[in-house]
Amino acid sequence: MSAYFVTATGTDIGKTFVTAGLVRHLRAQGKTVRALKPIISGIDDLAASDTGALLAALGEPVTQAAVARLSPWRFREPLSPDMAAAREGRTIPFDDLVNFCRDAIGGDTLFIEGVGGILVPLDDRRTVRDWARALGLPLIVVAGSYLGTISHTLTALEAMGGLEIAALVLNESETSPVKLAETAATLARFAPAIPIVPLPRDAGPQDFAVLARTLI
Ligand SMILES: Nc1ncnc2c1ncn2[C@@H]1O[C@H](COP(=O)(O)OP(=O)(O)OP(=O)(O)O)[C@@H](O)[C@H]1O
Ligand SMILES: [Mg+2]
Repeated sequence: MSAYFVTATGTDIGKTFVTAGLVRHLRAQGKTVRALKPIISGIDDLAASDTGALLAALGEPVTQAAVARLSPWRFREPLSPDMAAAREGRTIPFDDLVNFCRDAIGGDTLFIEGVGGILVPLDDRRTVRDWARALGLPLIVVAGSYLGTISHTLTALEAMGGLEIAALVLNESETSPVKLAETAATLARFAPAIPIVPLPRDAGPQDFAVLARTLI
């Protein structure tokens, strides 16, 4: 395993849940793992934040300094990064963002959690896709199983054309109209080249072990 960029079909789909689960699983295997959430918006309660969840999975205390180390670009408002930054009279320096991530790549397994979905704006002209392209890392794409996910997922995969996809994680939503396996089978017919890993609700160590094996 090396470095992965974790993205999704949208916000609140399960990027942090999947990243934290992988981190916990790999640590339990005795592996050294790192995780970053370079941009975070809507940060008031550190422990409840994505960065806090990643630090907990890493077994590190959730301190201001640790959050700042994993997440150099932090914004108060829970909005897309361009808007959250603008509310504070700031912009996200794209080159610095890319260099921060590049500097972290190498050695241990590394997960970089993006923000929202693949076409979320970072500034006036760049989106998460530009960030992912600049890094050139294989993607872990998280999708849900809710009604409507098939079109959302296939649309997102089209937008990711040209980027390497290590795994599409079909992360079970709170409510699903059909069984996870049925949605996975349909997606597999339309995206036959992509490894699809179904991840049940409240996935446990065994489920993350399967996902980790897909990534190796
Ligand atoms: N498989 C699952 N089983 C149980 N709860 C889950 C599962 N996947 C996600 N959740 C919960 O759903 C919520 C949203 O997930 P998560 O925070 O991982 O999404 P995200 O894609 O990282 O969101 P954001 O775009 O804000 O970063 C969280 O409360 C998380 O714990
Ligand atoms: Mg998250």
